[in-house]
Amino acid sequence: MQALGYEWINHSIAPTQLSGHDFRVDIGAAANGCTQPYAASVFNISAMSFGALSAHAVLALNGGAKKGGFAHDTGEGSISAHHRVHGGDLIWEIGSGYFGCRDEEGRFSEERFIANATQAQVKMIELKLSQGAKPGHGGVLPGPKVSAEIAAARGVPEGVDCISPARHSAFETPVQMLEFIDRLRRLSGGKPTGFKLCIGHPWEWFAICKAMLQTGLLPDFIVVDGAEGGTGAAPLEFTDHVGAPLQEGLLLVRNTLVGLNLRPRIRIGAAGKVVGAFDIARLLALGADWCNAARGFMFALGCIQAQACHTGSCPTGITTQDPRRQQALVVDEKIERVWRFHRNTLHALQELVQAAGLQHPREITPAHIVRRVGDGDVRLLANRLPLLQPGELLAAIEGRGDWPHNVFRLYWPMASAQSFRPRGTAVSG
Ligand SMILES: Cc1cc2nc3c(=O)[nH]c(=O)nc-3n(C[C@H](O)[C@H](O)[C@H](O)COP(=O)(O)O)c2cc1C
Repeated sequence: MQALGYEWINHSIAPTQLSGHDFRVDIGAAANGCTQPYAASVFNISAMSFGALSAHAVLALNGGAKKGGFAHDTGEGSISAHHRVHGGDLIWEIGSGYFGCRDEEGRFSEERFIANATQAQVKMIELKLSQGAKPGHGGVLPGPKVSAEIAAARGVPEGVDCISPARHSAFETPVQMLEFIDRLRRLSGGKPTGFKLCIGHPWEWFAICKAMLQTGLLPDFIVVDGAEGGTGAAPLEFTDHVGAPLQEGLLLVRNTLVGLNLRPRIRIGAAGKVVGAFDIARLLALGADWCNAARGFMFALGCIQAQACHTGSCPTGITTQDPRRQQALVVDEKIERVWRFHRNTLHALQELVQAAGLQHPREITPAHIVRRVGDGDVRLLANRLPLLQPGELLAAIEGRGDWPHNVFRLYWPMASAQSFRPRGTAVSG
């Protein structure tokens, strides 16, 4: 408790007594064109592909999600037969490989997208721009791992290296990206559609925001992944030194949307080392509406962090395609553990909310969390972190106020809705 950076939530003399812990957030705004909003749990399973995960792991995660009424993100490996067995709510993630919605050349296929997206089990569509552990770095599932099942789920040939390019081919510019998101929303029958990213160049994030202001097209949600996020496989330099950590990425996204008065129509999800109720409380205080966990749920599946995910010889049957090794993961038993991990985490969150004298986790603000910043020196996060007021950035843009923070003063002018490249730099091939 004396360590620098130690944080706690202040309790109340008058704690509340809540009837349960099924905390939810409504995602999808009619003003955005969403006609099928989704009431999501404030805690869900983060994106992890079938392929990175075994069939047994997917079955257990989805079964647990079904039993607990929370969502299971498919990861960019698309929807497999194993996602459908238990019928747990799905967030379908679309990566640069367009798995499950691609044509023979690997480009986006509208027809195949509609076939998957209009299924009742699919509750939301998530466009993947990047994940924290390897932002700006594509992925490859080596040929020997591309089994018939994986090939069928992804719509790729069996036994051939399966590439996720480092960038998308369905759009080139921020404006085109929002038009693509709007198209996915329409083609899915009006389901909440958004994107996931790990913050990199601030001007690229600002370029997306400028495109929102220019076109009026808004995503229903944005998932911010921290550079501290996990992965099945990535070069060490990327896992250690590329992308913004979650706190900084989340604050920038929260502040920009609040400062532009766009926040009411866009929900924010957060992922990156979320394993307990206090992690969720803290991230909701920093501006998130819900949290996702990947490795937290892998622990519920029995992960011992053997760090063998990329070798195919996972000793616990979680990240292997070896049918013999998968026997180590007993699906029915792990369904219980996944469900219980979620239930107990939300129950602990309920107790934190009650102790603070609140009614819902969304009421937790930076004024409830304290951080030790020095010996004998503690500060409320509210007094420590730059938090923009509604419209504050718009006022600066329109010359009616000062730039609220250097990051806006320096990088907002460099951003363009017509390009991800900063203004004034030559466009390379
Ligand atoms: C085995 C594994 C596979 C993953 N696959 C994907 C993926 O396909 N798409 C994606 O956006 N993120 C993927 N991620 C990143 C997670 O969804 C998550 O954003 C990140 O790990 C942060 O969460 P954590 O700290 O709770 O693990 C993967 C992570 C792991 C551990």
